[in-house]
Amino acid sequence: MTTYTLRKAAADRVRTDLVVIGVGTDKKGAAVPLGGAEAVAAAYGRGFAPLLAAAGFTGAPGETARVPAGDQVNAGQLLVVGLGDRDALTPEKVRRAAGVASRSLGNVASVALALPADDADHVRAVAEGFLSGLYRFEAFKSKPRKVSLADVVVLSYGARRSDVVAALDHAVLLGDLTAKARDWVNTPPNALVPTKFAAEIQKLTKGTQVGYELVTAAQLKKLGCGGILGVGLGSANPPCLVKLTWAPAEPRGSVALVGKGITFDSGGLTIKPGGSMSAMKSDMAGAAAVVAAIHAVAALELPVAVTAYVPIAENMVSGTSMRPGDVLSMYSGKTVEVTNTDAEGRLILADALTMAAREAPEVIFEISTLTGPCVVALGDRIAGLFGDDETVAEVERAAGVTGELFWHLPIPPEQRTSVRTESKVADLLQHNWVRWGSALYAAAFLEQFVEDVPWAHFDIAGPSYNTGGPWGHVPSGGTGFGISTLVELVAARANR
Ligand code: BES
Ligand code: MN
Ligand code: ZN
Repeated sequence: MTTYTLRKAAADRVRTDLVVIGVGTDKKGAAVPLGGAEAVAAAYGRGFAPLLAAAGFTGAPGETARVPAGDQVNAGQLLVVGLGDRDALTPEKVRRAAGVASRSLGNVASVALALPADDADHVRAVAEGFLSGLYRFEAFKSKPRKVSLADVVVLSYGARRSDVVAALDHAVLLGDLTAKARDWVNTPPNALVPTKFAAEIQKLTKGTQVGYELVTAAQLKKLGCGGILGVGLGSANPPCLVKLTWAPAEPRGSVALVGKGITFDSGGLTIKPGGSMSAMKSDMAGAAAVVAAIHAVAALELPVAVTAYVPIAENMVSGTSMRPGDVLSMYSGKTVEVTNTDAEGRLILADALTMAAREAPEVIFEISTLTGPCVVALGDRIAGLFGDDETVAEVERAAGVTGELFWHLPIPPEQRTSVRTESKVADLLQHNWVRWGSALYAAAFLEQFVEDVPWAHFDIAGPSYNTGGPWGHVPSGGTGFGISTLVELVAARANR
């Protein structure tokens, strides 16, 4: 257990094992101490700049330098992190620098963070980034490392202000829930089959104000959820749907969240090549994000009613698998011709979206690892964003606060037409084998199931899972992408 506290103290005076300071660059490219670093630089006097120069430290983002602390400061060690251009400093840059710092701590028991943290937004960024960078997944290692870090002190002049205190609490809450979501994403697929995932979600709701309801495969059959059942056909592990509710006493609005929960995506009979299949345990990252988000909303007691719909299935190959050419009868009442069993996400989401829409929420936010083509278009740090213009603008505003990156993509009318008219046997065509713009086609398909409720779809196939090394505050593996923006979306609705 690591405890987080706020303190209004000068960075050169704190007596922790290590103190983290931030150094940026000025117009001429020279290194300049920022935030709490100023007090440390003053304590070193003229010796400070040569110390950084000797370490080859310039102040660029991502850089670190470990400086042995002398009599000038009370802490045992100094860790300097780069913040980049001082005039372009944003909370997101501070968040990333704090993440770099927490990944470079070494074996210490207490840390003070003296990064730019004068207001609530920056305190939140410092704490979120630091917590995020600390994350490790070692549940399946026979010898997990010992965690020595016990105390983290965030230094801020606003330490006693109530909004700053709330910002730290918010960051710790989100850090814990993000870690939970990452754990699920990183858990091997043999250890998180659909009913196990549902049980894990139920476990998280224990002792909270979040309501849990399980819709079993047998119940899905009675309801006519052909999409979820069709995808689950090939697996020995039956599908299900989890519904979570946060129902405050006097809600100021209502939001539905929907997240894709494919515990493993082999592609089904339209099987994936080995390389594309290797990270497909992460195909439930959207589900993990909505579960984490609704728990944060409930813990913060935000006065907005939130319902989360989590369709869960395993997309496998067997003699009972769904075939290309099959026609599924969906919960909405429409029929769908399946042409690609690897476009399974939209099938389970369709049923969940209809379920959400029929309870008439004010808005639906749906988040899914939906398409590789979206990653081709936007890379692996930016999510695709689709929906009606107003809801898209709302998401862009929230993302501006959280620092998560989204890019608005269109749903072209001709793809909408293709979904509706190009199946010769069913009402809707699941997938069009024309290769171009496949992420857009997927969104056009989903749109058929939202029944005129305002909505946005986040395609997080790229940013949900980091196949490379850690960067900024983002670890390898599951990232928890989308959680903070979903919570911010609900918080913004509570305040309007
Ligand atoms: N789960 C995949 C999408 C995915 C790809 C997530 C890469 C994360 C990383 C999804 O079910 C899928 O297979 N999509 C197809 C879309 C295609 C049929 C338009 C794909 O990516 O090939
Ligand atoms: Mn697939
Ligand atoms: Zn998938």
